[in-house]
Amino acid sequence: MKILVTGGAGFIGSHIVDRYLKEDNEVIIVDNLSTGSLANVNPDAKFYLIDIRASELGKIIEIEKPDIVNHHAAQISVPLSIKDPISDADINIIGLLNVLQECVKYNVKKVIFSSTGGAIYGEAEEYPTSENYVPKPISPYAINKLSSEKYLYYYYKQFGLNYTVLRYANVYGPRQIPCGEAGVVSIFIENLLANKQSYIYTYNGEPEGMIRDYVYVKDVAEANVIALEKGNNEIINIGTNKETKTKNLYEIIYTQLNGQIARKSNMIEPIMASARPGDVHKSCLNIDKAKEILLWTPKYSLLDGIKETIDYFRE
Ligand SMILES: NC(=O)c1ccc[n+]([C@@H]2O[C@H](COP(=O)([O-])OP(=O)(O)OC[C@H]3O[C@@H](n4cnc5c(N)ncnc54)[C@H](O)[C@@H]3O)[C@@H](O)[C@H]2O)c1
Repeated sequence: MKILVTGGAGFIGSHIVDRYLKEDNEVIIVDNLSTGSLANVNPDAKFYLIDIRASELGKIIEIEKPDIVNHHAAQISVPLSIKDPISDADINIIGLLNVLQECVKYNVKKVIFSSTGGAIYGEAEEYPTSENYVPKPISPYAINKLSSEKYLYYYYKQFGLNYTVLRYANVYGPRQIPCGEAGVVSIFIENLLANKQSYIYTYNGEPEGMIRDYVYVKDVAEANVIALEKGNNEIINIGTNKETKTKNLYEIIYTQLNGQIARKSNMIEPIMASARPGDVHKSCLNIDKAKEILLWTPKYSLLDGIKETIDYFRE
């Protein structure tokens, strides 16, 4: 199969490219390297350095004729989307529309789209949250992901372009840039390795910080492999259905870095700070649909995923 991966030089996209190549697919990457890196680009993939909003995208799709487009290029920061909702929408909505228009024009069969289970539901009253819960996004980033899902449905109904939406929980693992909330695991590892303090954002003074569902990037890449064949025209949560408080995550990482005998009294204490605008207090995903439709379950425990991520950052 021939697959074009947008954002294939980024954190999640590059792991997906690696997995697609391992399954003997032909892979083309489109990325403008705004947050991605050439070091992440698998040499067995064909790489185009362009913006998803550029008119040249059509030429590439016309020449390469991919069967499937996997769309991971995006502006990913919630705080940035609040500071500058116009450029967030420009990349995440106009960029997506350019991709979809060209997919229709050149008969791409399916689009796999990376949405957000961590942000789209807002402060959900149903918990762990399933796909049936009506999203109540509280940031421009999450609003754009929800709008993107609606556009995908429209392109399917209007033009027969199939899609699978994967709503990720908080993804972590090797190659994640330590910035923003999505990168909290890599931020904690980097800071602890450099003996620096980290911030933990908290809600209403809750001493343990926010609650999140952390899913390892290799499990996410696996779901993208399965979505090549399964999950047509479905929206599917990809998480672990396990809650972790941020302070607890910090302590797990500290212990892994310093060995089981490390004394908590020696731990560099994090700085507790108030939640930022757009931060969801609590998020955890119900993954029954992924189990049923994709026959996917996460293979990595949080501990195993953190160990691999630490090895990567130590190197
Ligand atoms: N990291 C998470 O926890 C998480 C959770 C839910 C959803 N997602 C989604 O997964 C996708 C990938 O996220 P990531 O964490 O790997 O982030 P990332 O920043 O590492 O990857 C995004 C990639 O897209 C590229 N890119 C950005 N704007 C572009 C543009 N205009 N044209 C071409 N390329 C562009 C970047 O250079 C980068 O390589 C995004 O759509 C993000 O919203 C991520």
